[in-house]
Amino acid sequence: MEVLELNVLNTATAEDFKVLEVIGVGQHGMVVSATCTIPGHPNPEKLYAVKLLFTFMHDFTSAIRNAYENEWAVLSKILPHKNVVRYWAQFISLIPLSFVPHLPDYIRSYAAGKDRSGESVRRKGQFVVFDYHPTSLRSWLQDRPVPLPFEPLFSLIQDLLRGIAHLQQYRVAHLDLKLDNVLVSAEGSAVLCDFGCSHQFATPDMIMSYRHGNPVGGNKAHLSPDIITQYNHLKQSKDGQGEIDFSQQEAWAVGVLVHEIAMGRHPFVDYPLGLTSARGVVSYALEDLPPLPDQYPKSFRSIARELLHPDMARRISVKEALKQLQLCFPKSAERREVERLLAQLKAVQLARDLAEQKASQLMAERDKALLEAREARRELKEYSARCKELEQGGGEGGRE
Ligand SMILES: Nc1ncnc2c1ncn2[C@@H]1O[C@H](COP(=O)(O)OP(=O)(O)OP(=O)(O)O)[C@@H](O)[C@H]1O
Ligand SMILES: [Mg+2]
Repeated sequence: MEVLELNVLNTATAEDFKVLEVIGVGQHGMVVSATCTIPGHPNPEKLYAVKLLFTFMHDFTSAIRNAYENEWAVLSKILPHKNVVRYWAQFISLIPLSFVPHLPDYIRSYAAGKDRSGESVRRKGQFVVFDYHPTSLRSWLQDRPVPLPFEPLFSLIQDLLRGIAHLQQYRVAHLDLKLDNVLVSAEGSAVLCDFGCSHQFATPDMIMSYRHGNPVGGNKAHLSPDIITQYNHLKQSKDGQGEIDFSQQEAWAVGVLVHEIAMGRHPFVDYPLGLTSARGVVSYALEDLPPLPDQYPKSFRSIARELLHPDMARRISVKEALKQLQLCFPKSAERREVERLLAQLKAVQLARDLAEQKASQLMAERDKALLEAREARRELKEYSARCKELEQGGGEGGRE
């Protein structure tokens, strides 16, 4: 089924998607939910998130354009994982008129409009197709209590760590972790999305050669103090180049997300500015971290704290945090797995019921069509018999 889906999606153009809803309009693109209408698709009702990248605003050789394409370039190199948004396909095709009215004002007339001589112009756009998930973590948290109960907090953090650990196997760092860039699946799992700032490192130590002007991550609120410090130093250095060690970046970002998910706020109100010295060093003491409420188990609070260790050499790694969480809360992990499987079972049962319903509908239609065909054959027989009679009768009459 997956191979068939992949084969079908690999032949797709934007016209092959029926747009249902605009989900998000960001700086870099517009995301819509859509179904794929290509005949032969194994599940025509399946929802996808189709992203139109605003690359058509830049010429083909521009560096900005490469940055836009970074997302699918990185995702296409890694195997699918439950906690990483599933990437299916990318293509360049004419921007369908159904997309145009939803584009931001400054882009709309560029995508489809009139040129100076009044001729209609339609442009091609870069599209990327992902699995659709119903909500972002930010929206999901909106109707939840603060502090968030331990069970969902634990499960979301474990998902994030699992997704990041999977990326790390491919020497990939997301580099723009935040509540908007995490989706929540129908089964309630956290799924990483928006890989526009991600980076695949040349070596497993996750050290990046930095040159003045290179982008470093997507949002500073989730960049670790060591990265910002290294960045500030390189920026101030004479040649403006050197290396930045990203090996413990994602662990710190998850540490921030623990606070944002649990308490709805960043652990430091004015990060990084409020913690930056005149020489560009970002620092704080472990004791400065706001405590997580006592309602969370002590071992969890301690792992959360270790994720935010200001000294990257002493900060717990993503892999180690995952291991410790599993050791400390084996029941939670098991219970979650059972819940996940039950949710999957429910989804499969629902799909089966729908398929059975459709099958019986089709069978009823077939029976009706067979009856109609039989009736038509009978009528045809009657008519031809009647025609013959008339011919014979007419012939006899003619001879008289
Ligand atoms: N696969 C998906 N399923 C459902 N919603 C999605 C999906 N991918 C993205 N979204 C929604 O669309 C929003 C924008 O997507 P994304 O972050 O990938 O684009 P972006 O252009 O980088 O946006 P921004 O500049 O706001 O970060 C996300 O915050 C999320 O709410
Ligand atoms: Mg985003």
